[in-house]
Amino acid sequence: MINNNFINKYLRQTQDIYGDKLFLKINKVSNDSNIVENSLDEFYHSINMCQKCQLGNSRKNFVFGIGDKNADLLLVGEAPGEKEDLEGAPFVGRAGKLLDKILAAISLSRDKGVYICNVLKCRPPDNRDPLPSEIEKCEPYLKEQINLIKPKLIVALGRVAAKTLLNNDLALKDMRSIKHDYYGTPLVATYHPAALLRNQKLKPAAWEDFKWIRNLIN
Ligand code: URA
Repeated sequence: MINNNFINKYLRQTQDIYGDKLFLKINKVSNDSNIVENSLDEFYHSINMCQKCQLGNSRKNFVFGIGDKNADLLLVGEAPGEKEDLEGAPFVGRAGKLLDKILAAISLSRDKGVYICNVLKCRPPDNRDPLPSEIEKCEPYLKEQINLIKPKLIVALGRVAAKTLLNNDLALKDMRSIKHDYYGTPLVATYHPAALLRNQKLKPAAWEDFKWIRNLIN
């Protein structure tokens, strides 16, 4: 029997994500890729006009995510930059091009087996760091994307994504090389591709991370 506490908690959580509209989600059914695609699309349409924080006023596009909606690997970045805001897709600038090369080196691509999104769906002006209040309002969207995609592995790209998902305040170096647990899904943290562009010395360690990532999803 379902008790009232459970129903109240469920309604509070869905209100947090969808506002006052009651949304009954379709759960992923194994091997039925259409159901996942439809529910992700439905979810996108239910949130893409979001005005929960001030970034809703300054954005050009709401950057939901891109890739294979039945992905085994979910990559989570920080927030859209200028190019992403203009194009409405994550990781389409210089850092994104590097990310695509890294994925290709482990025989993956954003079209097959990989989905990419960010903690924040809207661009912070002048690429400033996301504010805690913005992360708090946007994180339920990410949680629901994870819940719908049900990846085999989550990879946090950079410290902001890692500390948001792991709910801590550690340095990235202290979160790397550990198989964390995100509500039952393995999660690893690695360098943000923009950090690799800034500091070439980080590349060998990032390469070790991605070889390990490849093994974890095989
Ligand atoms: N950096 C991010 O964290 N995400 C993007 O989409 C682009 C750059």
